[in-house]
Amino acid sequence: MTILLDELDAGELAIRFEGEEPQALLEWALGEFGSDIAISTAFQIDGSVLIDMAYAIDPCVRVFSVDTGRLPVETLEFADALRLRYPGLQLEILEPDPEHVERLVQLKGPDLFRDSVENRLLCCNVRKVIPLTKHLDGLDAWITGLRRDQWATRTNIRKVEIDHDHGAIVKINPLAEWSGRDVWTYLRENDVPIHPLYARGFTSIGCAPCTRATEAGEDERAGRWWWETNAPKECGMHCSIEHGGFEHELHAIVGKHA
Ligand code: ADX
Ligand code: SF4
Repeated sequence: MTILLDELDAGELAIRFEGEEPQALLEWALGEFGSDIAISTAFQIDGSVLIDMAYAIDPCVRVFSVDTGRLPVETLEFADALRLRYPGLQLEILEPDPEHVERLVQLKGPDLFRDSVENRLLCCNVRKVIPLTKHLDGLDAWITGLRRDQWATRTNIRKVEIDHDHGAIVKINPLAEWSGRDVWTYLRENDVPIHPLYARGFTSIGCAPCTRATEAGEDERAGRWWWETNAPKECGMHCSIEHGGFEHELHAIVGKHA
């Protein structure tokens, strides 16, 4: 069933759930949207928390992750660990269109992201944003692990938003108010599985060639695209990035979907 919310409804809901525990919002969202809502995860700590909470509310909750084809092997192994811990978990692994990837690699080489921010955003678009957008086309709402304390671009997120970058579906951010410390406390108290790269100094985890471990005192996202200066530490999944440099190449690679 399609549930339509407008900006006013979303604003009111965001106010209603501000200060509430994430489970309260998850319970409302899963009840409201049923099988038309799904959790998005990159198998980081925030995703583990959401899966643990949502599975306790509804073991049939839908979860999806985009496998860009460049993920660390540990991430895919960790997906299996989650399946063991949460029997019957409805976990969908999405992939980019192989023809798009082939054209991208032919045109720019496999490690184009090192050459320029435009190339990096192009790669993120082809491998991650487009498969995500295609999946969201079939949903009324999605759940993310975004937190306000992660990065400057995220300080103003609300717990309930209308996602105008993705067909005006509803975007639910149950952990928006939580700090990294809150997340770790929940993981330990509930004995939730944790991606193994955290034990090796990683504090945010994306694709293998674009993520490094961080040093003490560095920002949580400092290890993402660490060689870039003066660029948004975003892939374009959570905010459309107008960079005026990669769009025409994207069009050449993916045609009308760009
Ligand atoms: S990113 O834009 O830099 O890659 P980040 O890694 O901080 O995002 O993750 C923020 C949230 O985006 C995650 O909690 C999850 O909801 C969603 N997300 C990130 N990467 C993926 C992915 N590969 N597949 C599905 N959802 C993802
Ligand atoms: Fe490509 Fe790196 Fe983006 Fe992964 S994080 S999609 S490898 S640019």
